[in-house]
Amino acid sequence: MAKYAIKGKNNLSGEYEVSGAKNSALKLLAASILGDGESIINNIPDIIDIHKMEDILVGLGCKLDITDHTVKINPNSIHTRKLDSELTKKIRASIVLAGPMLAKFSEVQIAQPGGCLIGARPIDDHIDVLSQFGVKVSVSGEYFHFVGKPVAGEITLPEMSVTATENAMMAAVLSEGTTHIRVAAAEPEIADLANFLNCMGADIKGAGTHEIVIKGVDKLKGCHYSVMPDRIEAATALMIACATSSELLIGPLIAANLSLVFKKLIAAGANFSIIKKNNFDYIKTSGEQDIHGVNINTRTYPGFPTDLQSVYAALMTQAKGETRIFETIFESRFGYTEELRKMGAKINIVSPHIINIKGPTKLKPSHIDAFDIRGGGALVLAALCTPGTTVIDHVEMIERGYEHLDLKLTKIGADIQRIE
Ligand code: EPZ
Repeated sequence: MAKYAIKGKNNLSGEYEVSGAKNSALKLLAASILGDGESIINNIPDIIDIHKMEDILVGLGCKLDITDHTVKINPNSIHTRKLDSELTKKIRASIVLAGPMLAKFSEVQIAQPGGCLIGARPIDDHIDVLSQFGVKVSVSGEYFHFVGKPVAGEITLPEMSVTATENAMMAAVLSEGTTHIRVAAAEPEIADLANFLNCMGADIKGAGTHEIVIKGVDKLKGCHYSVMPDRIEAATALMIACATSSELLIGPLIAANLSLVFKKLIAAGANFSIIKKNNFDYIKTSGEQDIHGVNINTRTYPGFPTDLQSVYAALMTQAKGETRIFETIFESRFGYTEELRKMGAKINIVSPHIINIKGPTKLKPSHIDAFDIRGGGALVLAALCTPGTTVIDHVEMIERGYEHLDLKLTKIGADIQRIE
């Protein structure tokens, strides 16, 4: 397992380059199997979860040509309906292969997906949704076996699940007739997926709202598309700038995707502005930051993203006053707080969904562990605020979702060594 050794309190400055969105790119790769030809997807982040998804697709028989941040993928030689169970268990996003496999082949065998240990993360919503399409599901050993061509109709999600919404959308695109998906999640990555599918020839309206209408088409072609910027990475960099009082230019991003996060940070005293550069938004942060505690609760989009909860908590250890965080989405997403407490942070776990933070705290260098992607992001922020050298272990967890974070931070002046 690799480590980061971070010598904190360096002055950070310059441009932090934001990669393509992990939680869009993973789904675009899955969606590409719906096409009858090659798709070319640009701005794919170079992260472990993407490599795992690529391995799953190659295992299905897809031809992939990966150069830098572009993937050419041709699904015409898919020869099996069974996903490699070892790979499937490594990433949560493997579950979104169910929809496209059923739409194209009317069958898929998929093991229980893996992903960050932030809760039980069952797939009951996915089973519920695919059953509403008339798909039959049985369990054989470690595999869920889904059979049947999805039938268009009225689909109501049991909750606003991001990947269950994406599965429903991809299940419907080749089904004759009109499908209404209600109680859909509205995350921007879902709209990015819908744009990709429409570029392939689908007819999807309403993605990014809680009701999506899909008119089925006979076939889809491959298409050339570029992944949207990663809003979670952009906001992580912004919170690092706030915590270290650094003058950074962070982008590209789509500022509208982070409006509540910006509002909360400004309420907490964050000092930054949004500028336009080559048709994208960029965040310009000030070197003068005076942060105080502001309570948040995480919600489905457009609420405060659960994926920023841990990074925000780490920032709040440096904020004046008290902060209460209510994590409403996952039931065990506070694992990172134990590691921050080892550094001296004053964090009290009130319940599996609520923590209280007192700040500001002068953190002390420690040897800590990354348990999941965003919890790891929180530890990196904390280490950058801490004098002395903090060692973070299991950084592969961080690199599942943040592209070359050590190199990007080095580029803006951080003293961070990656140790195998
Ligand atoms: C997606 O996970 C993201 N992952 C997560 O990002 C993100 O935290 C989450 O959405 C919420 O925004 C990907 O897109 C690959 P959900 P997903 O289904 O779709 C419960 C990151 O760090 N639920 O919206 O799996 C679930 O347990 C990752 O980038 C069921 O009970 O999340 C959770 O409490 C972490 N049964 C809630 O719903 C189901 O079948 C929301 O989960 C599905 C979900």
